[in-house]
Amino acid sequence: MARIPDETIEEIKARNDIVAVVEQYVQLSKRSAKNYFGLCPFHREDTPSFSVSPTKQIFYCFGCNKGGDVVTFIREIEGLGYPEALRLLAERAGIRLPEIDEDAWRAKNRQRRALEAIAVEAARYFYHGLQSPDGDRARAYLERREIQVPTQRIFGLGYAPDRFDGLLGHLRAKGHQENDIRQSGLLLETRTGRWMDLFRGRLIFPILSGLGKGRVIAFGGRILDGPGSEGQPKYINSPETAIFIKGRQLFNLNLARRAGRDHLILVEGYMDCISLYQAGIHNVIAGLGTALTQEQARLIRQQTEEVIVAYDADAAGRRAALQNMDMLADEGLRVRVLGIPEGKDPDDYIRQNGVDRFQALIAASLPLLDYKLKAAAEDAGRSATSPGDIEQLQDAVCQILETIDNQILLEVYLRRAAELLRTPVDAVRRELRQRAAAAERQNRPRRPSAPAAPQAAETDEPEPGRELRLSRDEAWLLLLLSLDPGIWAQLDPPPETRWFRSGVTSEGRSWIDAVLRLARDRELSRSRLLQEAEGWSLEGREWPAIFARMIMQLSDGHDDAAWLIEARRRERRVRLDGLQRLRDHYAYLIESGSDSDADGANTRDLYRETLTAIRELRALQRTEPAED
Ligand code: UTP
Ligand code: MN
Repeated sequence: MARIPDETIEEIKARNDIVAVVEQYVQLSKRSAKNYFGLCPFHREDTPSFSVSPTKQIFYCFGCNKGGDVVTFIREIEGLGYPEALRLLAERAGIRLPEIDEDAWRAKNRQRRALEAIAVEAARYFYHGLQSPDGDRARAYLERREIQVPTQRIFGLGYAPDRFDGLLGHLRAKGHQENDIRQSGLLLETRTGRWMDLFRGRLIFPILSGLGKGRVIAFGGRILDGPGSEGQPKYINSPETAIFIKGRQLFNLNLARRAGRDHLILVEGYMDCISLYQAGIHNVIAGLGTALTQEQARLIRQQTEEVIVAYDADAAGRRAALQNMDMLADEGLRVRVLGIPEGKDPDDYIRQNGVDRFQALIAASLPLLDYKLKAAAEDAGRSATSPGDIEQLQDAVCQILETIDNQILLEVYLRRAAELLRTPVDAVRRELRQRAAAAERQNRPRRPSAPAAPQAAETDEPEPGRELRLSRDEAWLLLLLSLDPGIWAQLDPPPETRWFRSGVTSEGRSWIDAVLRLARDRELSRSRLLQEAEGWSLEGREWPAIFARMIMQLSDGHDDAAWLIEARRRERRVRLDGLQRLRDHYAYLIESGSDSDADGANTRDLYRETLTAIRELRALQRTEPAED
């Protein structure tokens, strides 16, 4: 798609006042002298924490931390990509965009609509498949699993007859274009170049989009147990398509979100979900057979404040389950964990024991921290007496406590931990303090940070956003540079990419490079910075939102001199920090005897670099005494 010229983007933003745009979606009232407030459209709330600043042309929600400029707002609320959001705003302001762009946009839109129509048609085909004689076995199977007919209807369950290209023929007969059919994810190309149905001889679970109208966007298909099913995957799912991005969808979110929002129950499987729903527990959602993504966690957070995780009880999935739970907690959800006895899944349990006993399990679910403590105790063996076991338990317990940043909560859990370890509370407290000090010395993050980026082989999720690590000082420096283009020339020396933390990855490096170049050329406006920050995040929070929040913190009446002083102060810290890091990095490379670092510098170069860094650092430390 042709890029929209920067001047046009600026014009679009300038001609769409954020207050006017937001007011089309949110009722705003002026509650402070400067800002408008309203109920946040992105999460459920009863008191307004969604604020819009007319002077700054920024929105920020103090409840769910979403924020950004007018383009961000339209993207979020309309679920559009960046160019589409710009287009919408351009139309609103009567600005014409270049033609090429329009064609590409039309083509993409047309394809989405075609894929949606194909998905609906496929759902019909599968539904008829279940009702037809072909579906005898599937209906018998559902009966055996006690999924009643009304429930089958609610979920639109179907059956894909065991034919080579039954669906393909059906879609062609309905007049769909060959190319669209191939992009639908419902067909496979064989080695000989023929096209065949992806789902054959499987029970079909339509997946509906979670928000909006709840359109069919994809399918899951379960093998019917019995002869011939050995060696095949139990479930297969639609691949990602232009209308189905797995990491952004959840099974049954569409019905669950209407069912009550005290809490949502998160289960692993389609069958668990359907079974609970049938039993009258409607606020239940399931993942799509992949690890939970940050976006899914956020999606849940937008619907509710509490999630009860009811995963299978098998120990194999525990690590993955814990990661998912941490992710949910990191999005600000209260997480409770429901334990199912005897290695059953929710579906098994509810069928054998009834819904009342399941409700009792819900009531008995544990807050995440308690669950973790209990799991640690179980792992170490409850009667841990050998020193090794005790140390292991103690280590596990401390790691759990270290994640608590609320002091009151910490006091409560210190007590529980002490009980578990059979030691005085003060001993635990002391141990924690020592570990913190040791961590500080080693300069390693204390909090086991968000799970590492998934390996490409493990999952084919699109990344929720590329990680961009900027320290507070770095972020403020960039923001100040964008607020006043005059600042750059008054910084001596001007900022350098190598001082920045993100310099460690080539992606991060080129981002900083680009932004600094813009600043140098006096082209880094505030909206340009937000635009550059699109698609980048820090531990799951998006940079446009982080910048928006920072802008909200600025005092309204702006003062060039104060900004310059602040920029100088920030730059100095960024530089100090960066030079120290560079010095340590080079020193480490020399010490560890690596002949060259990634850039291919040899040891002699490294010595030179180290000395240069040390010299620069000394000079810097001499010139101005650190004020903090
Ligand atoms: P389970 O095997 O726990 O599913 O997998 P289940 O719902 O209990 O299935 P039943 O009761 O045997 O019918 C949980 C989820 O993992 C995904 C599916 O989304 C499933 O619902 N999965 C599982 C796959 O994608 N592929 C598989 O081969 C198995
Ligand atoms: Mn099951």
